[in-house]
Amino acid sequence: MGGRKQGMEELLPLLLLVLMIPVWTYAMGSDPPLSSMSAPPDPSPRSLPSSPVSTSMAAFTPELPTGGRKHRLDSHEKLLVALIASCSLLGAIILIFMGLWVYHNKFNQKSSKKSCQRSETEKGLSLAPFLGKFSSLKTVSRKSSVAFFENKLLEKASNSFSDSNILGVGGFGRVYKARLDDNKHVAIKKLDCGSQDAVREFENEVDLLSKMQHPNVISLLGYGINDETRFIVYELMQNGSLETQLHGLSQGSALTWHTRMKIALDTARGLEYLHEHCNPPVIHRDLKSSNILLDANFNAKLSDFGLAVTDGSQNKNNVKLSGTLGYVAPEYLLDDRLTDKSDVYAFGVVLLELLLGRKPVEKLAPAQCQSIVTWAMPQLTDRSKLPNIVDPAIKDTMDMKHLYQVAAVAVLCVQPEPSYRPLITDVLHSLIPLVPVELGGTLRAAVHSNN
Ligand SMILES: Nc1ncnc2c1ncn2[C@@H]1O[C@H](COP(=O)(O)OP(=O)(O)OP(=O)(O)O)[C@@H](O)[C@H]1O
Ligand SMILES: [Mg+2]
Repeated sequence: MGGRKQGMEELLPLLLLVLMIPVWTYAMGSDPPLSSMSAPPDPSPRSLPSSPVSTSMAAFTPELPTGGRKHRLDSHEKLLVALIASCSLLGAIILIFMGLWVYHNKFNQKSSKKSCQRSETEKGLSLAPFLGKFSSLKTVSRKSSVAFFENKLLEKASNSFSDSNILGVGGFGRVYKARLDDNKHVAIKKLDCGSQDAVREFENEVDLLSKMQHPNVISLLGYGINDETRFIVYELMQNGSLETQLHGLSQGSALTWHTRMKIALDTARGLEYLHEHCNPPVIHRDLKSSNILLDANFNAKLSDFGLAVTDGSQNKNNVKLSGTLGYVAPEYLLDDRLTDKSDVYAFGVVLLELLLGRKPVEKLAPAQCQSIVTWAMPQLTDRSKLPNIVDPAIKDTMDMKHLYQVAAVAVLCVQPEPSYRPLITDVLHSLIPLVPVELGGTLRAAVHSNN
């Protein structure tokens, strides 16, 4: 390309030379200077080339009464013709140059695109026009591109998807820990996409996540496809899910009161991003403790966007009823009414899990279940009873006023009537003063002594 550019620069003087020819021709072939003229050889204006330009110019030339004047007019006309010819030539040259410049730019763009793709493929990644397929889905505003991971690379990174690398098991498949060639640790969700539902969730998740960027939303690193199996590659969250932390072997012992408040605040921030800052707004539709993932510092991020819908989509209220028992808002379960307040309800359930250390639905007997909401509601508003139902792992470790406050927020979030529930922004602002400054809130060190 450098050579081509140089060639064009060398051509420039040559073209200017060509451009000057009509003027020189005139200068050499024209009559002597006007001051030394005595009798004009042929003053007839008809001897001028009869181009439309010259004709029209002649129409505007005032008639000259004397021979000397006629001769001067003749010389002027010749000069005019030479100038017009030069200008036309200049115009043509400019056009040619513009054409060459446009072509040159296009060629450059194409070759740089090609080399970018080549270098990605060499690294084992290739950028694919994957998202174009999903034009039927409503999308959020950020422009996106997503990396494609070769199957071989994923096999190698996950030790051939060995059982020892399993991080968790979900409805459509398993999630594996993996290490890429650059030593980066990632999580790979391996989805068996035999059913249309699974394919749809895979496409929806990749499409939405590829356009989102927020500290409290999981980062999508890429995707892969191998026959009916689909892979989604995410950043690795070292402390797994909130569900595992609360209800797994450790039974919430790793989560102090302040860490729990931070997790609640982070989750609210993630939801606020979906509801208030995505365009069109996004409803997560499957918020639950297993979809809140925790990194090495217990920063919480929302994951699993397979069921998420955009608020602007016309068929938002026709989407198949989905979600997880215990977290689904009553109006959505009974009337198919889906709004951002459905996420607020699910958030209230997660807040109750954090406070009480209980699962959203507990089995009492083989055919008898109890929801955390119906069980806790009467005790949450009774200040004498509330301290007794708090998770034993954090009992007596918090400021009582803060406990009452959080319980009040949870009660509001799980109101059966969606319009009585607060917006997630309001929830977020009520939680900020309860979280220490070093964990992302505004609570000062002097106020919190024991946590
Ligand atoms: N990026 C990740 N980093 C670390 N662990 C993860 C990551 N993604 C998922 N996991 C773990 O894998 C588990 C399974 O995840 P998955 O989203 O497939 O299912 P789920 O949320 O438990 O259930 P469901 O299929 O009903 O959504 C999670 O609960 C979590 O423990
Ligand atoms: Mg999940």
